[in-house]
Amino acid sequence: MQNKVSIIGAGNVGSALAFLLAQKELAKIVLIDIDKDMAIGKTLDIYQACSALGIDCKIYGSNAYEDVSNSAVVVITAGFPRKAGMDRAELLAKNASIIKDIVKNIVKYAPNSIILMVTNPLDVMTYYAFKLSGFDRTKVLGEAGMLDTSRFATFISQKLNFSIQNINSLIFGTHNDKMFTINRYINIGGFPISLFMKTKEIKKLIERTKKGGEEIIKLLKTSSASYAPAASCFRMIEAILKDKKYICCSSIYLDGEYGIKDVCIGLPVKLGKNGVEEIIKLPLTAKEKKYLLDAASNCKELIKQLPF
Ligand code: NAI
Ligand code: 2OP
Repeated sequence: MQNKVSIIGAGNVGSALAFLLAQKELAKIVLIDIDKDMAIGKTLDIYQACSALGIDCKIYGSNAYEDVSNSAVVVITAGFPRKAGMDRAELLAKNASIIKDIVKNIVKYAPNSIILMVTNPLDVMTYYAFKLSGFDRTKVLGEAGMLDTSRFATFISQKLNFSIQNINSLIFGTHNDKMFTINRYINIGGFPISLFMKTKEIKKLIERTKKGGEEIIKLLKTSSASYAPAASCFRMIEAILKDKKYICCSSIYLDGEYGIKDVCIGLPVKLGKNGVEEIIKLPLTAKEKKYLLDAASNCKELIKQLPF
């Protein structure tokens, strides 16, 4: 195992991701938390779970940032999660101060890493990490599009009773109610979704997807989703470490694409060893472009609240 992945935040998402990475023997893992005991405790538990599974994992828990040195990828899951009834934007001020300190340490100890942001509000925090780090925009990604895409695909697969492997249905925009899909780019086993589902039905599923996080928080009461976010991060990290050239939706800083500048939003990208190796340029109708512009201007409004 030559690669090293560091995860900042050993809470629900961070520890679920660490366990997934350990099970796949993809990288050495460092789990950092402000609560050192939490980081070490989770690490011990994961080590012992791998022992039960017969897996040789390499995982280390700490609260010291020097331990992230030489990481290929640093995932940021530290910060406050939403509670029932809360909007992700309400986390902005509290999480921004946490992210500021973490990014400073990543720049100091892992200047050649790729940052994968998870903390909410996702697209705003991805922008913040990009600006604070000074890293190339191809090295600062935000995970949310993978999660929202996975939720949408789950609902389509359940509704149509086709394998999840047959569902290609990307979600674009921001990780809030400004996310959207483009029906003509959805296919089921290579065939247009219009063969299987009416526009009205697709709309219902996209509306459920927009509220997918909230649906889970209401059920869990004291925490938010963790397995699907961790699995989504895993796919992105795997694409980077294995240089897969994998297309997925990632939040990424835009510098003129679609006429949009100076904001992060979720768009289809090609992921490989260099991070985002291409932003896939989609032909869009005027209506579809408006969805993108709406998401961008929503994120720009929130960005104004960031303490630089
Ligand atoms: P959690 O509360 O279970 O874990 C957060 C961890 O961060 C805690 O262990 C805490 O001690 C640690 N932490 C706090 N300040 C820190 C600091 N300065 N340095 C290092 N560690 C620190 O929360 P959970 O459920 O893991 O969620 C984490 C974040 O991810 C939240 O902001 C949540 O909204 C977001 N999230 C994003 C998703 C996405 O798809 N982008 C999906 C699910 C959650
Ligand atoms: C979610 O959508 C909380 O952003 C997180 O589950």
